[in-house]
Amino acid sequence: MIETIKEQIKLSLEKFYKTKYNQEITIVVEEPKNPELGDISIPVFSVVKALRRPLPEIVAEAKDEIQKASVAITSISNVGGFINACIDKKLLAKEVLTQVKNLGAGYGSSDLGKGKRVTLDYSSPNIAKSFSIGHLRSTMIGNSLKLILNKCGYETYSINYLGDWGTQFGKMIVAYKKWGNYEDIQKDPIRKLTDLYVRFHEEAKENPSLEDEAREAFRKIELQDPEYLELWRWIREESLKESQQIYELLGVQFDSYNGEAFYNDKMDVVVKELEDKHLLKEDQGAQIVDLGEAMPPALIKRSDGGSLYMTRDLAALFYRKKEYRFDQILYVVGNEQKLHFAQLKALVTKMGYDFSENVEHINFGLYLTDGKKMSTRKGGVVKLYDVLMKAIHLAYELVSLKNPSLENKEEVAKAVGLAAIVFADLKNHRSLDIEFNIEQAVKFEGQTGPYLQYTSVRIASILKEKTFDLSKCNIELFEKPHYFELVRQISLFQSIIERAAIERAPSVIAKYLLSLAQSFNKFYSIEKINVEEESIRNSNFALAHATRIVLNEGLRLLGIQYVNEM
Ligand code: ARG
Repeated sequence: MIETIKEQIKLSLEKFYKTKYNQEITIVVEEPKNPELGDISIPVFSVVKALRRPLPEIVAEAKDEIQKASVAITSISNVGGFINACIDKKLLAKEVLTQVKNLGAGYGSSDLGKGKRVTLDYSSPNIAKSFSIGHLRSTMIGNSLKLILNKCGYETYSINYLGDWGTQFGKMIVAYKKWGNYEDIQKDPIRKLTDLYVRFHEEAKENPSLEDEAREAFRKIELQDPEYLELWRWIREESLKESQQIYELLGVQFDSYNGEAFYNDKMDVVVKELEDKHLLKEDQGAQIVDLGEAMPPALIKRSDGGSLYMTRDLAALFYRKKEYRFDQILYVVGNEQKLHFAQLKALVTKMGYDFSENVEHINFGLYLTDGKKMSTRKGGVVKLYDVLMKAIHLAYELVSLKNPSLENKEEVAKAVGLAAIVFADLKNHRSLDIEFNIEQAVKFEGQTGPYLQYTSVRIASILKEKTFDLSKCNIELFEKPHYFELVRQISLFQSIIERAAIERAPSVIAKYLLSLAQSFNKFYSIEKINVEEESIRNSNFALAHATRIVLNEGLRLLGIQYVNEM
């Protein structure tokens, strides 16, 4: 495999410099910018610099070592300080195709994370408010990261840290008592609760004292007033249904729904520990921890004694460390909470623990429409579920148009519509703001999820129930550029997944799949796949089959379903 060969070259060169010159030099093995120059490129400028010896000498020496590194290396040349090597394409192709055939969807797995545990905190909507676009992003990114990490052998534990405690519950109770009705809500909880929430905000504009009433109501919940506590429990349960509707649609699951309320009785010990360690300081009646020059202090207790987001997160972090014994914990939360997580980490360090570097904020950007922030506030602006439904609807129209006789149109449209939304998100690096255009996302052409599904379907329809025999391939074919390009990309799958895992970036896989699909479609435009000649047909089938396996598995890692027909 290319990756293995690259690794071999790297290791043998580094070892060579170590033994011959007693120097630790890091070698980087790349792919040449211009593929005509070879398959692998090794720049040796750093070696020249470190050893202070003439370039031609270093190049000659390195060429020798590279040649010895692998039997699959055929020719070696250089352009200045870049050494370029070609590898035996036939040998590589055979190995890659055999592996894919044998492993199927297991192809690309690795044990990068063997024995390591990662806890993920994602989605985490504030229930009793509307499920926002930001929470959708967190859900999709978190879900994909979990799948990617699992594929790399990590053990994961996924937590939906529900925002199930806060003044929004006070607002809901006030609104319910004033304008609500039990049976009504029970019949259609999502809509009715949203209506109440919207109405509360509208009326509060006219009548600000409602806000005080809401605070008072929330205080009663905090004081465990049985009636209010019961109402909280009921509203929590009914509100959760909106989120669950979305999880069901997306096929997302969690190992735990322990939200903010779960930590109500777990904060005191943490506050006590801060106190014992003399970290707490009073500031205008509130309790804070100083975090130095670099950032503002962390608020631990409000002046009215109320608890805070930070204190809860701190309690949750220690609970999780103890309970799940994670090596790393990932918080998939928007850019706007950068400071919060920086403070959380700083607190851990201040308290004398050494695991703050294992606490990672997996940040992400906003959704924009026409350059402006898209918002779900006041419920009305963008109803998320409706956005997903709209995508499914558009997909239905497209599918019906392209393939009127398709049997399970609804099922296919669902997979395609969701693929559109999920892919439009994950193809961008998560930290960026993204411009969202639903019509664009659903298209079968361009950089879309449906384009990838469509490519996979094309392959499925070529292969149908046909079989192929790897031992009857004509391996000479794989030297042709359009054949080899596919082989090369397929061979990179594992290292692409590992990179996505290390960088916590599903976009690495998304981009890879796009170029794989492009290469396949190019191949298909040049080559008739189902030909008479047996050895050519076997080779083509093997390659197409491998491409489909990788496409489908790659889609799965993004949280997208493949389809067999569309
Ligand atoms: N519910 C929070 C919000 O919507 C996100 C929670 C993220 N996770 C955490 N442990 N703080 O802003």
